[in-house]
Amino acid sequence: MANITIIGSSSMDLVVTASKRPNKGETILGESFKTVPGGKGANQAVAAARLGANVHMVGCVGGDGFGEEIIKNFNANRVFTDYVEPVTHTETGTAHITLAEGDNSIIVVKGANNYVTPDYVKKALEVICKSDIVLIQQEIPEETVEYVAEICFANDVPLLLNPAPARPISKTVIERAAFITPNEWEASVLFNNKDIHEALKEYPNKLLVTEGKNGVRYYDGEIEVLVPSYAVEAVDTTGAGDTFNAAFAVAIAEGKSMKDSIRFANRAASLSVTKFGAQGGMPTREEVEGCL
Ligand code: RIB
Repeated sequence: MANITIIGSSSMDLVVTASKRPNKGETILGESFKTVPGGKGANQAVAAARLGANVHMVGCVGGDGFGEEIIKNFNANRVFTDYVEPVTHTETGTAHITLAEGDNSIIVVKGANNYVTPDYVKKALEVICKSDIVLIQQEIPEETVEYVAEICFANDVPLLLNPAPARPISKTVIERAAFITPNEWEASVLFNNKDIHEALKEYPNKLLVTEGKNGVRYYDGEIEVLVPSYAVEAVDTTGAGDTFNAAFAVAIAEGKSMKDSIRFANRAASLSVTKFGAQGGMPTREEVEGCL
């Protein structure tokens, strides 16, 4: 069983479904409103646990009802929460999501996720060093990503950096990560609009560019490979990237090849979009293997 540590955000997703997005200054009537657990870090933790990994989450929630719900949800999904701390004087992070016209748009208010600092992460150092792989994203402070890249590198623990949401990252962090998984937009921010094929060549078997329905692209040291995604009827694409990252990490930690790990992750991500909510469609191991 793979031992995985996820360092990142835990948020409550406030999801409005509507037939279209309002224009600037316009008010429209929506169809439904729901609150569901989300946050890129928490989503990746739940996805990896459902796929059978031993998962420790390192993160912060607020001292409010949303925070309590998020911790309950971790427990229900068998994610260890020894390093998920309620920060009593602040609110839980929230993601304000509009689902319309077949896609989502999201505004994240980080709240307690701002408290996932290097000093806070230090408390989980022992668990981090024993992990087969560590996952991190960017809804937490930049210095934490830099710190985690440093300790993972120093302790020979592979780090998967999911650079979402997009922001520039130092070359040192890029060098220290074992895997980097931007989508096309995040890749253009990360590599300053550099031609993506050149960027892929610079980081063989490390840079994986996710292209949504198209699949996932990487350079294997000799040729560029596109591993196609699976066609499904999408209900809600929120969390598909998180499912991909978690499933890829599980497969790599179990010793699968790069290509097989991407295939496994593409399958998991495709299943995740068939139900509502970031975590609603995240599949179990049996569901993924049943489809492969
Ligand atoms: O990646 C999807 C997640 O991004 C959502 O669950 C939401 O919380 C946003 O942070």
